[in-house]
Amino acid sequence: MLSRATHRPLRTRLSVLVTALCACAMAATALTWILSGDPAVIVIVELAGLAGVALVSTAVVRRELRPLEQAADTADAIATGDFGRRMVAADDAPTTEVGRLTDALNRMLGQIQASLAAREQSEDRMRQFVADASHELRTPLQSLRGYAELYQQGALPDTAAVDDAVARMLSEIHRMTRLVESMLMLARFDEQDDTEVEQVDLSRVVADSCRDATAVEPARPLHSRIEPGVTVLGDEAQLRGLLGNLLGNVRMHSGPGTPCHVDLVRAGSDVLLRVEDEGPGIPDHAVAHVFDRFYRADRGRSRASGGSGLGLPIVAAIAELHGGRVRLDSAPGRGTRVEVILPGRAA
Ligand SMILES: Nc1ncnc2c1ncn2[C@@H]1O[C@H](COP(=O)(O)OP(=O)(O)OP(=O)(O)O)[C@@H](O)[C@H]1O
Ligand SMILES: [Mg+2]
Repeated sequence: MLSRATHRPLRTRLSVLVTALCACAMAATALTWILSGDPAVIVIVELAGLAGVALVSTAVVRRELRPLEQAADTADAIATGDFGRRMVAADDAPTTEVGRLTDALNRMLGQIQASLAAREQSEDRMRQFVADASHELRTPLQSLRGYAELYQQGALPDTAAVDDAVARMLSEIHRMTRLVESMLMLARFDEQDDTEVEQVDLSRVVADSCRDATAVEPARPLHSRIEPGVTVLGDEAQLRGLLGNLLGNVRMHSGPGTPCHVDLVRAGSDVLLRVEDEGPGIPDHAVAHVFDRFYRADRGRSRASGGSGLGLPIVAAIAELHGGRVRLDSAPGRGTRVEVILPGRAA
């Protein structure tokens, strides 16, 4: 029904016009024949009528088709890559077929331009990621090369020096392995739109993670308040990774005896996971950047302890894949609090 209504007006307008012009020409011929009866006059009137029909119909058809010509020009410009161009709609645009076509094409162009911009942005992000990753890998590679060259030149005087060099090389290799694993994980998350869905007993995952953290650092007071039976839909391994990163940050960025608090509670239909420490906190200027890939608030210290600045971006990516979000609140001397809010699910 709709497509008929949209096609009829232009066709109708043109056929009414041609019919009306032909009728006028025939009427003029008939009138001349009645009034004068002179064949020469009739021929002249007929010729004049035909010329008039031709002129008027040409002018009208041209006027009607002008928007289509403009559309063709715009399409040519777009074909050469000018995606910013738009069809210009006439005043009576939405009511005519050309107006509707213009509107539809403009909307389509808008969508194409938006998806091209999104692709460009993601390519920029990928380029930046590759550049940062290469930069990060260069440092451990340089030190590996340094130790290998020292050994080759016979500059390591005794077995103890060789053992020390090998230990350092192994530590750099572990660092690189962790870095590459984190990068692969983030790259995988970038490709995923959502995550494997299973019902996960988050209370159990959080309790396990706290136990693991205490096993690694028995001297750190870890206070946990875990509401039982809190479940979410998601990927258990990823959620364990999220907690591992947050508790790893407490371990890596605050002193060994610094207390840590882990809370898991339901908050309405959401689930709130909070990991808080009473450590040194993060400088104000750095707080806004801690979710940027490869960012470290204290580059020297984090690098020395093996950090690559991918932990919090991984936490954010996991939360996002679970339909949740992350908040970080920190100030120097006040400690650091990270809150992960996930959509909950009744057990
Ligand atoms: N609990 C915390 N206390 C103090 N600073 C923190 C804490 N958590 C994160 N930060 C700061 O935020 C930065 C980014 O954290 P992120 O976890 O992304 O990287 P990382 O811990 O340095 O390295 P990675 O997690 O990749 O091993 C850290 O380098 C650190 O400066
Ligand atoms: Mg970390």
